[in-house]
Amino acid sequence: MEVIDRFLRACRREPVDATPVWFMRQAGRYMPEYRAVREKYTLLEICQQPALAAEVSLQPVRSLGVDAAILFADILLPAISLGVGLRFAKGEGPVIEHPVRSMSDVQRLRRVSPETDLAYVMETLKVLRRELNGLPLIGFSGAPFTLASYLIEGGASRDFARTKTMMYSAPEAWHALMDKLSTVLASYLVAQVGAGAQALQVFDSWIGALSPQDYIDFVQPYSRRVLDCAQATGVPVIHFGTGTSTLLPAMKAAGGSVIGLDWRIALDDGWSLLGDDVAVQGNLDPAVLLADRPVIETRVRDVLRRAAGRPGHIFNLGHGILQNTPVENARAAVDMVHEFSTLQVGAA
Ligand code: CP3
Repeated sequence: MEVIDRFLRACRREPVDATPVWFMRQAGRYMPEYRAVREKYTLLEICQQPALAAEVSLQPVRSLGVDAAILFADILLPAISLGVGLRFAKGEGPVIEHPVRSMSDVQRLRRVSPETDLAYVMETLKVLRRELNGLPLIGFSGAPFTLASYLIEGGASRDFARTKTMMYSAPEAWHALMDKLSTVLASYLVAQVGAGAQALQVFDSWIGALSPQDYIDFVQPYSRRVLDCAQATGVPVIHFGTGTSTLLPAMKAAGGSVIGLDWRIALDDGWSLLGDDVAVQGNLDPAVLLADRPVIETRVRDVLRRAAGRPGHIFNLGHGILQNTPVENARAAVDMVHEFSTLQVGAA
């Protein structure tokens, strides 16, 4: 069994020699090599220059020994193509210059052709496929709800008041926006597979803000369209969200061959809610990587014990790696996952 395809095998629920592991946001400011690149270039410059984006994607592959690389990009890049303006403000996070708040704002959104408008993303994927020597490459996009929430709020939000106001009070505008975004995101993901992505992750990071019924009424059909198109390419598709303990069955029904779990639910409980016919990814609390080595060890063992050697587990954090994470703790966690899961299989 080739070590190199552990990740793809686990996505397909096939047996593996050791549990594959990668971390969401594994490239970023916690790494000195990343900070060195960021001293010279802005985040958008890195994303838009394929040589730089590919270099940054490879940094965690080299220094952590993870089982997959993820494209370096951002879920908000399609906002540039949609014509709403995107900048990253120091300390504030992303800012959308022209938020989408009415039907006429929705109608003004530009038509997007991912192969040309986001050609730099496609080029980054091509460069990465050449440089990864067979290590799997994950492409990604936001899910319609999470992307819509940034477009409507104009940036990050705590309560999603404007997003929900559009949902409840201007449902026609909401559905028109979700219809456009799901079409754009579906074609963006399909284009990424054409450019070399061997798996896809759809980030619905903030979907936990919704009740199950609102998810079903206002989001699920659009997520389903994106996930169906992504899955039709034949590559594994990871469907991820946070705060999703009550949404998991509805998310699974929307699609994805792997469902991402955050740390708010125990991995085995989340997997029982989902059923055995789907793979799971997760779900160490990212804050555990700030703790001492024995705490990390106990928590890594606990996630693996709950996965119980079942085929179809990809080890990851429950959300993105935190900025002040010591690199050596991230590296130690990767080694522990490989070591402890090998022993588990050997002992069975
Ligand atoms: O996983 C990876 O290593 C690939 C790179 C990646 C980035 N953004 C680069 C980035 C990925 C997968 C994303 C996804 C993303 N972007 C999400 C979904 C994942 C999640 O964590 O929920 C979201 C919600 C965004 C939007 C976004 N981009 C925010 C809220 C921020 C600001 C956060 C911060 O730390 O300031 C960004 C900026 C961003 N995107 C950074 C990186 C490495 C921060 C880096 C910088 O300024 O250099």
